[in-house]
Amino acid sequence: MNWLWTSQAMNAALGGRPIGTLPEGITGISIDSRSVVAGDAFFAIKGDRVDGHDYASLAVANGASVIVVSEAKLPALGRLTVPMIVVEDVLSALGKLAVASRERSSARIVAVTGSVGKTTTKEMLRQALAPSGNVHAAVASFNNHWGVPLTLARMPAETAFGVFEIGMNHADEIRPLVKMVRPHVAIITTIAAAHLGHFKDLEEIAAAKAEIFEGLEAGGTAILNRDNKQFDVLEAQAHSVGVSHICTFGQHAKADFRLADFEGGSESSTIWAVLNGDTVEVHIGAPGRHIAENALAVLGAALLVGADMAGAVSALAGIRAVKGRGERHRLAIGEGHLTLIDESYNANPASIRAAIALLAATTPHSSGRRIAILGDMLEMGEFSQQVHEELAGPILAAGITHVWLAGAEMAALRDALPDSVEVVYFPTTLELGDFVVHSVVPGDVLMVKSSLGLGFGKIVAALIDNYPPFADTGHQL
Ligand SMILES: Nc1ncnc2c1ncn2[C@@H]1O[C@H](COP(=O)(O)OP(=O)(O)OP(=O)(O)O)[C@@H](O)[C@H]1O
Ligand SMILES: [Mg+2]
Repeated sequence: MNWLWTSQAMNAALGGRPIGTLPEGITGISIDSRSVVAGDAFFAIKGDRVDGHDYASLAVANGASVIVVSEAKLPALGRLTVPMIVVEDVLSALGKLAVASRERSSARIVAVTGSVGKTTTKEMLRQALAPSGNVHAAVASFNNHWGVPLTLARMPAETAFGVFEIGMNHADEIRPLVKMVRPHVAIITTIAAAHLGHFKDLEEIAAAKAEIFEGLEAGGTAILNRDNKQFDVLEAQAHSVGVSHICTFGQHAKADFRLADFEGGSESSTIWAVLNGDTVEVHIGAPGRHIAENALAVLGAALLVGADMAGAVSALAGIRAVKGRGERHRLAIGEGHLTLIDESYNANPASIRAAIALLAATTPHSSGRRIAILGDMLEMGEFSQQVHEELAGPILAAGITHVWLAGAEMAALRDALPDSVEVVYFPTTLELGDFVVHSVVPGDVLMVKSSLGLGFGKIVAALIDNYPPFADTGHQL
């Protein structure tokens, strides 16, 4: 049997107290009783909303072969028919297993942080490294205090490349996570105004992201965005913690991984990348200059971990924009179709600008319109009004003529847009969603984006529910 962990190795790492006869090994790890499959170890951690201990019996019913629980919660668990490992604290036990996983691994490890583009970059790395060996990366964003140790603990021993997304909302969150991951290569995609409400300014955000350098393996390399305004801050910070290898990507003439040219289409793009002096033409299967910038960091990281570069380059042609992050739908309406760009997963000033550029690069048909459907950017604190107002600039520059808005904060953008733009505003997502479904016409291009908390995924779902997929018959309306 190909165990993820033998019970012996797992328990040695956890330093727990076994109850019952442990199975020989486990084939997976889960912290969510709903996704438990037979042979998993279930770690009953206290998550964002619920405590896993309340779901232990469900995890057992779903096939968990061992459960890891805390000493304090043991009396309340009742009778369970499955072996257990009892520990002081389940989340720190998961962290210990993560550390043991890293210790046993001979994989080349890449960590990705940044204000935007972490998951996109992680997914591109997964594809780009795959031709060179087994890649391990999380199924979803999984970039926080439980997501990172879970992903690390799940890394099979025979992994050749591990890719980890590390995120933060506050200072001091990245440091403990990167010290578990111990990357050979650390990418900072970009520094932008995400979670700005928790910080004084962009420099403070940069300083928090710079914590990633503190976990870099000796001799490891930091990959930084040469075009970002915070480059100097990050470079200085890297030097100050003893990082000796810094590589850069971007358009800047001095970038090690340089974007020499960009040709953007509505469904894909082509870049000419200069990698340590060699120019390569790279087709990227998802549109947007921001994706191309992430791709440069990916190619740089692939080079540094010794991947097969021809394989990495050809893999990028096969990437697709993912749900909520630029995924496109063509939906049948009337005699024609509309194009829906689903950016509903999240929003901040940088990612909304990137999405506006995507909208601008997509041409409506017949009497269709380019429509930006935008909701609040949350966690902007005292900067909120200003960052919402400032979206008027990129909207006008991109020539977007229709802007449909919802949310309390978006009232600032409504007031900032001139009469030349047709603005529709509703206080709630529900009202806007209803309006959208009834107001679209054949040929429209819609880009839907807001912070997750606004629930703009419902607008996307309502459109998909009301308009069937468009079967392309070869002629366009
Ligand atoms: N380099 C970039 N610059 C600007 N915007 C970007 C960039 N990369 C991705 N985006 C935008 O950010 C959105 C979110 O991308 P992604 O999920 O990769 O970010 P993330 O950093 O993982 O976010 P989170 O912190 O929520 O996990 C995308 O839909 C896209 O609009
Ligand atoms: Mg993410």
